[in-house]
Amino acid sequence: MRLLTCLLLAALAFAQPPKNAGARWDSVYLNPDAKVPVNPSALVLETTANLKPGAALDLGMGNGRNAVYLARKGWKVTGVDISKAAVKQAQAEAAKLKVEMETTAGDAEKMDLGRARYDLIVCMYVHPLPLRGSRKLIDALKPGGTLIVEGHQSDYPNNQLARTFDKLRIVRYEDRLMQSEWPSSPDGRAPVVRLVARKE
Ligand SMILES: C[S@@+](CC[C@H](N)C(=O)[O-])C[C@H]1O[C@@H](n2cnc3c(N)ncnc32)[C@H](O)[C@@H]1O
Repeated sequence: MRLLTCLLLAALAFAQPPKNAGARWDSVYLNPDAKVPVNPSALVLETTANLKPGAALDLGMGNGRNAVYLARKGWKVTGVDISKAAVKQAQAEAAKLKVEMETTAGDAEKMDLGRARYDLIVCMYVHPLPLRGSRKLIDALKPGGTLIVEGHQSDYPNNQLARTFDKLRIVRYEDRLMQSEWPSSPDGRAPVVRLVARKE
C-alpha cells in the first residue's frame, strides 16, 4: 500500500510542473556561485552552422546563451523562460551586444506556440518540456524546420526522446557519456542525450 502511495505521488509530481519553478530557477540565476553555462551549446553551434537564419524559438532559454548567439547570427529569435531573472539576464546580454530578441517570461507548457511558425526550435536541458510539449513543438515547426534537444540521459531514458519525435526525420541522435553543459564544470562528463530532427 505504501509503495502504491509513493508511486502515485511520484506520478503526480511528474504530471504537474512545480508551482514555484520560476522562483527556484530565479535563485539559481541570481546566485553568483552557481555554475551556469554562458557559452552557446556545441550542438547548437554545429547544427546551425549551415542553416539559413529564419525564425527561432528557444524554450527555457536560461541566460540566453543560445538565443543571443542565434540573434547575433541573424536569426529572428523568441526566447522563453519561466525564470524572470533568467529573462532579465538574457535581455541584458542582448542589449549589451546590441542585438534584437523577443523575450517572454512564463511557463512554456502553458503557451500557444502556434503552427508552422519556426524554422528552428531549441530545447536545451529543459526536461520534461520536450516530452510533455512534443505535439506543440512539432506543430510549431515549419516544414523543413529543425528541432534541437539536449539533456541528461536520466531525463530521457530508453530512447524516449527518439521515440517521442519519431514523426520527424531524426538527423542526429546520440546517447553517450560526454561533456554535460549543465551544470557547467571542467570535468562535468555525464550520460547525455542529443537529438536533432527535421520536419519534412
Ligand atoms: C537547466 S536550465 C537550461 C537553460 C538553457 N536552456 C541552457 O541550456 O543554458 C533549465 C531552464 O529551463 C527553464 N524552464 C524550466 N521549466 C520551464 C517551463 N515550463 N517553461 C519555461 N522555462 C522553463 C528554467 O527556468 C531554466 O532557465
